[in-house]
Amino acid sequence: SNQTTIYEAIGGAPTIRQIVEVFYPRVKAHPLLDPIFPEDLTETIENQYMFLTQFFGGPGLYTEKKGHPMLRARHMPFEITPERAEAWLTCMHETLDEVGIHGPIREQMWSRLAMSAYHMVNHESNTQ
Ligand code: HEM
Repeated sequence: SNQTTIYEAIGGAPTIRQIVEVFYPRVKAHPLLDPIFPEDLTETIENQYMFLTQFFGGPGLYTEKKGHPMLRARHMPFEITPERAEAWLTCMHETLDEVGIHGPIREQMWSRLAMSAYHMVNHESNTQ
C-alpha cells in the first residue's frame, strides 16, 4: 500500500530499539519515576520495544507475545499521578531529541504518546 507507517518513516526496528535504550536510563534517573520501576529493566525494555513497535504501526509483536495491551489496566498497580505522566513525557521528549526525530513525524508520535500518558493517570497529585 502507499500508506507509510510512523514505524517505517522513523527507520523501523533499529530506531525503536534506540528509543527504548535511551528512554529507560532517563526514567531510572528521574526521582519521580525511579521508585515505581523495577531494579532490572531488561523485561521492561523488551515489553516497551514490542509495544512501541506495534503502537507506531509495525509488526504486532506485543499482542503476539502478551495479548491485548490493556495498558491502563496494566498500569493500575502503580500510582500514576499527573506529575509522573509529565515526568514520563519529559524523559520521552529528551529521548526523541537524542535519537534525532524531528518534524511532522515527531508531532504525530508526540500526540499519540501524550494522549496515552495522560490516559494512564490513575491517582491524584500528591501534595508533598
Ligand atoms: C510498564 C510506568 C506511561 C507503556 C510500566 C511499568 C511502570 C510504568 C512502573 C511497569 C514496569 C515493569 O514492571 O516492568 C509508567 C508511568 C507512565 C507510563 C509512570 C506515565 C504516564 C506509559 C505510556 C506507554 C506505556 C504512555 C505507552 C505509550 C508501557 C508498557 C509497559 C509499561 C508497554 C509494559 C507492560 C507489560 O507488558 O507488563 N509502565 N508508564 N507506559 N508501560 Fe508504562
